[in-house]
Amino acid sequence: MKTIIYNIRALYTSEEKPPVKGESMANIKRIDNPFILIENGKIGYIGQGDYKNYIDDESQVFDANQTIIVPGLIDAHTHLVFGGSREAEFSQKIAGVPYLKILEAGGGILNTVESTRKASEQALFNQAKKSLDQMLKFGVTSLEVKSGYGLNLQTEIKQLKVAKKLNDQHPIDIYTTYLGAHAIPKEYKSNRQDYIDTVIEDLKTIKSQGLADYVDVFCETGVFTAQETKQILEAANKLGFKLRVHTDEIKPIGGTKVAIDLQAKTVDHLMVITDEDIKALAYSDTIANILPSTSFFLNQDYAPARKMIDQGVALAISSDYNPGSTPSENYQLTLQIAGNKLKMMPNEILTASTINPAYSLGIHKEVGKIKVGMQADLLCLDCPNLDYFIYHYGINHTYAVFKKGQLVVDQGRIVGDLK
Ligand code: NIG
Ligand code: FE
Repeated sequence: MKTIIYNIRALYTSEEKPPVKGESMANIKRIDNPFILIENGKIGYIGQGDYKNYIDDESQVFDANQTIIVPGLIDAHTHLVFGGSREAEFSQKIAGVPYLKILEAGGGILNTVESTRKASEQALFNQAKKSLDQMLKFGVTSLEVKSGYGLNLQTEIKQLKVAKKLNDQHPIDIYTTYLGAHAIPKEYKSNRQDYIDTVIEDLKTIKSQGLADYVDVFCETGVFTAQETKQILEAANKLGFKLRVHTDEIKPIGGTKVAIDLQAKTVDHLMVITDEDIKALAYSDTIANILPSTSFFLNQDYAPARKMIDQGVALAISSDYNPGSTPSENYQLTLQIAGNKLKMMPNEILTASTINPAYSLGIHKEVGKIKVGMQADLLCLDCPNLDYFIYHYGINHTYAVFKKGQLVVDQGRIVGDLK
């Protein structure tokens, strides 16, 4: 099966070998007026000029209508599967009650834990599928999804099963992470070490059932200490899980160092990362996974992205989609916030939403670049150039999305058989 995408205004892609660090993040190749030949789900040829010689009886053609084309976007940090929503806490948040205070009072994450425990697998599936469709329309073609709203084995498994089922039934490829250490559940409040022991014990079941590739911990004041984080991650490492860590979101308590020492794939949030940890990150292959929509929604500081790039760190940008700190599926908005608030340049943002998150998920040989031989995960944006995509904010610029060479979004609508 062959498809030729023609009438493209310009193609933008990184050509760097990941992790793409520091100033190399700004290296983006631009090709004007290209055409792309897709063969069996992969990029077969990228040309300029007359594409008609490449058409044969089996070929389909797709008119990109003078849109620009970039690799399908990769969102490497979400909490896609959960029950309920938290608008009932929104007024408290606006009035200035801090995020950790709401959690301490049994709300926040623990509120969503209650709704997720109560929800049936089908209800969780339906709710997550709706969000996933939105994400696809915003141009996301690969996604990381965490559990963490069960805080007991049964519900964590329920969440991960839903994510796996969505992966089977939806065009977006999903990579799963076990986040049993997202908070201390109410029933263990006075017995935290028992909960940590339970999480460590449960890792074996998650592994043997093949439910997750990654393990994550929320290392934060009032949640898990750096020492506890280390204990959980070391156990995960021994079982062969790869690691990701939520840390340096509110107070810097040492999570980044633990993550780097254990060669975690990502450290996520980093709004309050120390200068010393920035230096250490630059010498590691751990990706700094920045979540600017969370800073926006929590009205908190933004991660020092400019400083990190200047020091040679490799950055990814992710949505952190979840019901508490980032209730929005609009990943394009996340990228626009990265421009406006993190002072990242459009080229750097493209690297941080394609090849670097691909590297953090170990899928960089298949996706994250537009290159012959790689999977044809492509996004056509109704924009005159890449700068416009980051500048004209808050709307959906998607014209078309191709996943594994199949047209899955056409003029803003989901089309075709889902997988
Ligand atoms: O990444 N910080 C911890 N976890 C999520 C928020 C989860 C929630 O509030 O439900 C985050 O922001
Ligand atoms: Fe998160």
